[in-house]
Parts: sequence; structure tokens; C-alpha cells
Amino acid sequence: MALFRRRKPPPPAAAPEKTLLRLITCGSVDDGKSSLLGRLLYETGSAYEDELAQCGGDLSRLVDGLEAEREQGITIDVAWRFFETDRRKFVVADAPGHEQYTRNLVTGASTSELALVLVDARKGVLEQSRRHAFLCRLLGVGTIVLVVNKMDLVGYDRAVFDRIVADFRVVADAFVAIPVSATVGDNVTRGSDAMRWYEGPTLLAHLETAEPKALRADGPFWLPVQTAIRDGGFRGAAGLVASGKVAKGERVWILPAEVEATVARVLVAGADADCARAGESIALAFTSEVDCSRGDVVSSYGAPDVADQFEATIVWMAHEELVPGRQYALKLATQTCLATLQPPKHEIDMTTLEPAPARTLALNGIGVCDLWTDRPLVHAPYERSRDLGGFILIDRVTNDTVGAGLIRHALRRSQNLHPQALQVTREARAGLKGQRPRLLWFTGLSGAGKSTIANLVEAKLHARGRHTFLLDGDNVRLGLNRDLGFSEADRAENIRRVGETAKLMLDGGLIVLAAFISPYRSERRMVRAMLPEGDFVEIFVDVALAEAERRDPKGLYAKARAGRIPNFTGIGAPYEPPEAPELRVDTGRLSAEDAAEAIVRYLEEEE
Ligand code: ADX
Repeated sequence: MALFRRRKPPPPAAAPEKTLLRLITCGSVDDGKSSLLGRLLYETGSAYEDELAQCGGDLSRLVDGLEAEREQGITIDVAWRFFETDRRKFVVADAPGHEQYTRNLVTGASTSELALVLVDARKGVLEQSRRHAFLCRLLGVGTIVLVVNKMDLVGYDRAVFDRIVADFRVVADAFVAIPVSATVGDNVTRGSDAMRWYEGPTLLAHLETAEPKALRADGPFWLPVQTAIRDGGFRGAAGLVASGKVAKGERVWILPAEVEATVARVLVAGADADCARAGESIALAFTSEVDCSRGDVVSSYGAPDVADQFEATIVWMAHEELVPGRQYALKLATQTCLATLQPPKHEIDMTTLEPAPARTLALNGIGVCDLWTDRPLVHAPYERSRDLGGFILIDRVTNDTVGAGLIRHALRRSQNLHPQALQVTREARAGLKGQRPRLLWFTGLSGAGKSTIANLVEAKLHARGRHTFLLDGDNVRLGLNRDLGFSEADRAENIRRVGETAKLMLDGGLIVLAAFISPYRSERRMVRAMLPEGDFVEIFVDVALAEAERRDPKGLYAKARAGRIPNFTGIGAPYEPPEAPELRVDTGRLSAEDAAEAIVRYLEEEE
């Protein structure tokens, strides 16, 4: 039989394996990044004469498409480019330099070992250059090369170069600086007659010999689980090894549950292997039947770093500001959860690179925030592991990636707080009152009739012997939330606190009525998610803005129109109507009494 089996041809005589260097190029628009890349591609033979001819001899146009797309304002991702020399292969993350492309820079830098920061010799070190270099360092890019381009346009003047190098020391203490002209070719792949004063290597020579710090330090074995495998006799987990190595027969722990297991088989690219290491996609089979699912981490040691509160550096990448108190989806390795950020402790001033006070973070802002998550995360400080220390934040309504985060450390309190079981349970308390605790959440414009209707509903429930409590916007804001205003962040915090308060009251067995404008879907959704399914009854008290304005019971619309309340809901600030409320009452057509009656009827039917 074996005679007839077709054999794969042997591989060609193996050339000595070349090392791979991952680098990122960053610079502002017009710093000549495209020309530099074009020249590297061209002179290393990775782009060809005819391609160059097609571009009218313009090197920068070899690096196709970027400029055009940028002009049209299309958000584009990092472009990956490849070239190689006799000594090395290179993967270049080409991050467009425009202000709003921090996002691309973060993507590119988080996988790079070396960064080329381009500076136009005529312009010197700009805020952009500082931001880029700072971000690269923050994201763990070990080697920074300052490329001072367009030296031909400053007469190859050494003094200009020296001044830029001195300026750049504010950003980085250890870096290599190379004066080049990408268009003429000086010091890119060959030396420069015009700059004999420069004695260092050409850019390419430096790239070929640079010894970058290893991306994945030899740490413990970490495998963020992408998929749990249950396939016949095969019980295991698959994913990309984030750090360390693993071998057949080794003991491992599945986190965060801390379940011990022994590795029965290691599969690399579908074939059995003795061991596997960082960077490889693998599957592990365990000797025993253990529970393991997506988002778990298989680790070589049992004491996991698991926590639900962190201090992290946040890089904000969205046009809309960060809203402290709002929930964002957080993805860390293969784990997903909801995260709430505190206002920044400080942000980094990009001129001085010093901490400065901040209430929030705007586009491209970098700051340090505490945050908490709705479930424990297996993590590591970003310094120790890019994979288990880096995360992204996603807006839950638009699904856009709005921020990137780097864990600095877990907050100690998060490991020292444990939920305490209470002897008298919510069920017991509710049972004594003979009712089902619920939260009736009235949302709508100011003047829609929320408070009026909530009051009527409470009176009716009370008359039926129900135990209730009414939380009302104006009242709560005169007490518990006296410190809050009407910014988006303050409204988010207002609703978060009201949600937590209502939750305690529900645990006490009460039926709670809450009347708040609560204009944002995010926060209403957050309160809904705090409670057991079915306990949150969203009641949309609907009215046309014009009608609410006509009623204007507190005279606030008039004031807002006169410009005296700048962020008044419906005028200077948005109201996002519920998409699928449990109930909607239209107070343009229904009297308050009828609306209240309808709500009570709904509750009775639901019981
Ligand atoms: S919420 O937006 O944070 O949910 P909340 O219901 O607590 O608002 O408070 C709304 C009440 O505050 C309104 O009924 C009104 O009396 C008063 N108010 C004062 N300033 C504003 C404002 N800028 N926008 C809306 N309501 C305001």
C-alpha cells in the first residue's frame, strides 16, 4: 500500500532562514513617508521599473492609493508592505499620519518592534511627531529611529539635523537618528556625498542589523482560548500562544476558574508536536475532561492575575469624547466584557509630555483612568504582555472602536472585595410583601409627564397594598446627585447611581418607580442589564417636542431657547427614544390618568 502513496516533493534546498523585522512608519502628512517607503521597496527590488514607470517615475506613488483615499476623508486601515534584502525580511505597518489616524498607528505599533518616526527637516519636531513617538513607546515598540527627511531642502545642513535630534530627546532618550533625502536617495540604501559629516549607517543598513527587543518575552505560557474543542475524544482548546511555551505532559491551569489539567497532545498547524511556543496557532488536548471555553486563558501557573478593576492608559480614538460612567464593550485577547471608566486621573500634554488635569479624553487624547469591568479578566500589565495587557473599547451603539487601553496594574481593592451572601434574601423580602419587585423606568423629554404619571401609578399601587418607592429626577438631583450637572458624563453617572440605588431597593422587595429623562440608550440599557431579566420595565412617556415646549411647566424650554440652558434636552442636547420599550404612552393623546391606568393594568397582567 505504502508504495502507491503519493509523496510530497521534498522542499527546495533550504536557504538560511532570514529574520523578520516588523516596523512601523509614522510621520505627519507630507513628511515624505511614501517616498521613503517607495525608495526602500524600489531599491531592494520589491518594486519594479515598469511599476515605477507607470507612476510617472514618482517613488511616492509606488506606495499606492493612500493619498487619494486620505483626500476623500475615507478612514483606512493600516497598509502592510513587505520587502526583503539578503539578510532580512521586513513587514512595514504604514500608518497614515493625519490627526485622526491615531487608530491606525495604535494597530500598527502594537505589533511592531521598531518605529521609523519621520520628521521634515524644514519643519522640525511637531506635536504629531511627539505624539507618534510617545505612542510607539507606550505600545512597547522597543527601538525608535528618528528619520530626518528632506535634508536636500535644507542644504544638507548639519546644524539643522543636530537641532532636531536635540528636540527629539524630550520624547525618547534612546534612539538612532539618520539624516536622509528620500527623493534623492541620500542615506536610505546608500551613503551620501553631500553629508559626509554623518558617520552612521544608512537607514537600510541600520534596519538590517538592528537587534529589536523580543516581542514576546519568555514569560509564562499563556494561551487565550479562541475556541473550545469538543470533537469525539478530543477535548481541548485552540488559539494563538501569547507567550511562553507548552509541551506534552505539562500541567496547566485554566483561568479564571483555576482548574488544573494535563496536556495530552499539542497540535501545531494540525499536526502533532512535542511542544509549541509564542506566536504559533495551536490546539491542546487535555488528559481529563475539563471545562474550558472561549475567553478562558490556559496558563502554565495557577496563581492567575484575575481582577475586575484596573488602572490603564487610555488612547482615545473617536470624535466623540470619552463619557466616564458609560459602559463600553471591552475586548482583551479573546475575552469580552463591559467596562466603565472613571474620569481620567490626568492626560498627557503632548507639548510637554507631562501629566495635565482632564475631565475626559478627546480625539487622540492619551490619559490614565481607573476602570471596572462586569466580570473578572485574566490579564497582565501591558509591559509584560501586549496580548494580555492591551485591550480595545467599543461603543455599544455604533459598534465603532473608540479607544485602546494598556493595563498598568489591577487595583488591589478589586482582589480584596468579595460579595457577601445575605441570609434574608430578596425573595424572602418580596415574599413577605406578597409582591414581585420591579423597576418601572419612565423616560422621556422634560415636560412629557413622567413625574405626574409616575406619581399617579404609585398612588394606585399603594392603594392596592403594594410597597413602592418613587425616585424622581429633580429630587434625586437635590440630594444624592447634588454634585452632578447635565453634561453627557454627568447624566451617565446620574443614571448609573439611580440604577444602583433602585437595584438595592428591588433587593429590599420594593416596586420602584424611576422618573428620569435618561436621554441616552446606553445608560438605560446598562440599568436594564443590572437587573434580572424581566425586572426592568421601560415606559416611554412620549410627546412631541413642540407639545412639551408648549406646556413648559417649569419655564425651562423658554430659558433654553433664550440660550440660558445650553445643553437642555431636546434643544441643545439629544434625546434618544427607546427602540423597544415594554410600554409606550403618548401623552399628546392620553390623559395622565388614562396613561397611569394603562400602566397599572399592564403590571397586573404581567404578574
Ligand atoms: S437626566 O438627563 O440626567 O436623566 P434628570 O431626569 O435627572 O435628567 O433631570 C431632569 C430635570 O432637571 C428636568 O426635569 C429639569 O427640571 C432639570 N434640568 C435642568 N437643566 C436641564 C438640562 N440641561 N436638560 C434637561 N433637564 C434639565
